[in-house]
Amino acid sequence: MVAADFVVVANRLPVDRVEGPDGEVGWRTSPGGLVAALEPMMRNVNGAWVGWAGQPDAEMEPFENGGINLIPVPLSASEVAEYYEGFANDTIWPLYHDVIAPPQYHREWWDAYVTVNRRFAEAAVAAVAQDGTVWVHDYQLQLVPQMVRELRPDVTIGYFHHIPFPAHGLYAQLPWRDQVLRGLLGADVIGFQRAQDATYFLTAVRRRLRYEVKGSHVTVVENGGATRTAVARAFPISIDTAPYIELAQREDVKARAAEIRASLGNPARILLGVDRLDYTKGIRHRIKAYGELLAEGRLKVEDVTLVQVASPSRERVDAYVHLRDEIELAVSRINGDTDTMGHTAIRYLHQGYPREEMVALYLAADVMLVTALRDGMNLVAKEYVATRADNRGVLVLSEFTGAADELRQAVRVNPHDIEGVKDAIMTAVEMSPAEQSRRMRSLRRRVLDNDVDAWSSSFLKALAEVHSR
Ligand code: F6P
Repeated sequence: MVAADFVVVANRLPVDRVEGPDGEVGWRTSPGGLVAALEPMMRNVNGAWVGWAGQPDAEMEPFENGGINLIPVPLSASEVAEYYEGFANDTIWPLYHDVIAPPQYHREWWDAYVTVNRRFAEAAVAAVAQDGTVWVHDYQLQLVPQMVRELRPDVTIGYFHHIPFPAHGLYAQLPWRDQVLRGLLGADVIGFQRAQDATYFLTAVRRRLRYEVKGSHVTVVENGGATRTAVARAFPISIDTAPYIELAQREDVKARAAEIRASLGNPARILLGVDRLDYTKGIRHRIKAYGELLAEGRLKVEDVTLVQVASPSRERVDAYVHLRDEIELAVSRINGDTDTMGHTAIRYLHQGYPREEMVALYLAADVMLVTALRDGMNLVAKEYVATRADNRGVLVLSEFTGAADELRQAVRVNPHDIEGVKDAIMTAVEMSPAEQSRRMRSLRRRVLDNDVDAWSSSFLKALAEVHSR
């Protein structure tokens, strides 16, 4: 493969390798917002994407898929357990999401994280051309920027953090807090979702490393005493709006939306939740609030249905196993107490769906419930808005998501306040068409004017500016 001028490094490739029952190999779009955001940009540049193919012990040569050059990085079964399920998703993930679940600190997980980060850095360095650009993504790879810089000082390095960065009081728990900050500061530009995340990061840099911080500029002191500038600031990520708008206009997708409504018994209002099954998403809080509204008679099962898509995620991490049990118990209790033969309170789907089906669901939903306890951005909120060309529908949005900084005309909620969530659901269910339209118009303007192209262009522009200085 020829050296690439532009290399993306992310934990996952855009496609996961899957093996069928007869051992035949196929490819499936990887889960999560990161892949959805980066894929459209990568189809338009002549670059390479370094990442893991989603299966342990799969040694693979570089290959092309959907017009993108992919460079697989292998992970052994123990590295999947200690680097991915362990340090990334049972240490960093809960710590950075305000310790909603207790983070686990294990030295052998950290060692695996260092080893695997080095492997990604080496793969990136082998792929990138002289004076090229490497763009590293997310919390699984926080050490890669510094490792790339040490191996290849000619390269321009960007890093984007897709999840929240915690307040210093929490971050300071991390036994390897200084190493992680130095790893990130290997980048020329460190991007965050919210201004608040950048501020927390800069506070940690000032307090832990004692580097000079002026506005978003950090004076990084290299080994040997030389200094250089790194920039840390917010670049709120978005979605590729075009495919959502196009699908929402397609007659077959509209027909599917009508079919979904009919199969639920044509309730007056359909509420929708779409999440990876993750404790950060506030699925339990949402279900509890909805169940109480039914129990109190403020909502009637003949009039409303909640469709909850909870796509399987990180199924071998204990916190996720427990969460699934809790949610499924809560759903079956509410359904058992309230369902009739013809109407169900909650249609719960522990499955992932292709984009066409998701857009049909968005079109069918009168109210979209995004009640995350903490979320870097939440692209589902933006997807819903993009599909609502008729300006109908209501977005209920947690103030603890990055999207809440931008989507000011949503019905805002504090998901911890169950009475508040109940009132927000009632506000949404009862909102007049004129009020829906007023709010949705403004939400759509915001999402359509700031799509994923605008996000990647502004990040890459900032990167070019720092490098040319
Ligand atoms: O955006 C957050 C994120 O953790 C991505 O980094 C990740 O690819 C996605 O969610 C899905 O999670 P996972 O890769 O662990 O399945």
